[in-house]
Amino acid sequence: MTSAADLLEIATRIAREAGDLAARRRREGLEVATKSVAADIVTAADKEVEAFVRAELERERPEDGFYGEESDARESRSGITWVVDPIDGTVNYAYGIPAWAVSIAAVEGSADPATWSAVAGVVYNPVSGEMFRGSRGGGAWLGETRLSVTADVGPAGGLVATGFGYDPATHAPTLERLARVMPVARDIRRIGAASLDLASVAAGRMDAYYEKGTNPWDHAAGVLLVEEAGGRVGGAPGGRPGKGMVIAAGPGFYPRLEEILEPEL
Ligand code: IPD
Ligand code: CA
Repeated sequence: MTSAADLLEIATRIAREAGDLAARRRREGLEVATKSVAADIVTAADKEVEAFVRAELERERPEDGFYGEESDARESRSGITWVVDPIDGTVNYAYGIPAWAVSIAAVEGSADPATWSAVAGVVYNPVSGEMFRGSRGGGAWLGETRLSVTADVGPAGGLVATGFGYDPATHAPTLERLARVMPVARDIRRIGAASLDLASVAAGRMDAYYEKGTNPWDHAAGVLLVEEAGGRVGGAPGGRPGKGMVIAAGPGFYPRLEEILEPEL
């Protein structure tokens, strides 16, 4: 049985090499293609970096499963599956905005996002050099600093991160949801990378994050970081975070956000 600390070491090494590869490719140029809708893009680097991560994991952990954004899933024979976004924040990456990350999580259980549980996770921003790391029961860390969410927010409300889906059909409900959150928000941030939003909540740089429509690879590692930093994460009331909704916040602010977002969940 491999420990969470061992899985974290593997994730950290591979995320660093993958992120540095992506940064190098970005300096060399950019090759962009469209995915589900016009605004949803993928670069050649997304695919190359995922292939790199996949090959490294297969070499180190041949029995483990794989669940990534840019390639087919592979079933686990060990009970561990790696959930990987090679570049989270691809639009930022393409525009040269320094807010994108490699997100790698090791999850335990069936390869079903509704039931698995994250054991170790990293979110690495190669531009800032920040490597957020967390393991179940081992805390969330940025370098030598142990991370903690903000316990509660003051009368000005919380600094709230969120995201907008690429599909234009989602924009009207997204804006309506935002209007409902505004009364409890001191301000809103739309950074453009769900994994970094969650890492920011874990680090206390943001009071909360919520978003509808994200995929497991966007949030698997970040959710563990928030939980290990003392925060609460959920989806539908009492439910797990998922495509339907991810809400992450400190224990004081979380119930207020959940109540506001609840009617449509
Ligand atoms: C996206 C980013 C973005 C979020 C989208 C995600 P991608 O991931 O995390 O912040 O709003 O929902 O799809 O496409 O850049 O990997
Ligand atoms: Ca991606």
